[in-house]
Amino acid sequence: MAQIFITRKIFDEAIALLDEAGLDYWHNEADSPLNLSGMAAQLAEAEAIVCLLTDKIDAQVMDAAPKLKIIANTAVGYDNIDVAAATERGIIVTNTPGVLTECTADLTFALLLAAARRIVEADAYMRAGKFAGWELFQPHLGVDVYGKTLGIVGMGRIGTAVARRAALGFNMKILYTANNPKPEIERELGAQFVSLPDLLRQSDFVSIHTPLSAQTRHLFTLAEFHQMQPHAILINTARGPIVKEADLVQALQRGLIGGAGLDVFEEEPIAHPDLAGLPNVVMVPHIGSATTETRRRMAMMAVENVTAVLSGRGPINPVRTP
Ligand code: DGY
Repeated sequence: MAQIFITRKIFDEAIALLDEAGLDYWHNEADSPLNLSGMAAQLAEAEAIVCLLTDKIDAQVMDAAPKLKIIANTAVGYDNIDVAAATERGIIVTNTPGVLTECTADLTFALLLAAARRIVEADAYMRAGKFAGWELFQPHLGVDVYGKTLGIVGMGRIGTAVARRAALGFNMKILYTANNPKPEIERELGAQFVSLPDLLRQSDFVSIHTPLSAQTRHLFTLAEFHQMQPHAILINTARGPIVKEADLVQALQRGLIGGAGLDVFEEEPIAHPDLAGLPNVVMVPHIGSATTETRRRMAMMAVENVTAVLSGRGPINPVRTP
């Protein structure tokens, strides 16, 4: 059995790095999700696991892998890994920060624009051959984006990249929440650090960019939607469980908010069944980082962390212990 356990198919260039380093690996080329608790033989010998955010790596998996030194997540978020359990066992956890920032910010803006300008509805209308000519009161009147107020919940790398697009490209006013104020971003973009209730009350668009944690799970419930403006649009490209999806559905049905652009869902891969019937929702299947260039960079980064740790150099992108 192999030294490195790769739970899903990854890019050939990343595999080539392991070959160059003379490392021995088992690669799930079938690319179907694995039940890790049934992979005792692979885990018993594994010194490294390269995984995706859909692989739940808990204490039980770690205990089945007594030689494990590193868990390299091919994602920037790592809520699929019990980092505290890994730390207790002396196992390093790494992620892929930075390489997917711009790509995810692009998708955030794509969802914001699509929801504001009703692009998906209009596209379906066009394909159905319903366009009968330009009218002042066309069926797909949307809302302006340029010059509006964007509330960013979590001003980390991706939140900042979204704020730059909004302020520099669309002349938007930026409000934000974060663990601490970011004076350099305030200077650069004129962003204002506010409380979550103030952000919710004042924003035309609210975009979520905070990691999923015990503190942020269900940060958005009916109580938060009640504080938002009835025309406001919620964008979530972070993690689904930050929003209580049943409450979001109610908020959209009752007109507490104007729309939503969603890349992530509470119980992926399932989305709340009522979302599909709501015309004011744009939904995509967790594609924030889904460009070939970005996914290749993520795979390379995960594998580079493994080669660094197994050669004794230490991790390049260790995650912080909670
Ligand atoms: C991540 O890296 O956490 C993203 O959700 C992947 O698209």
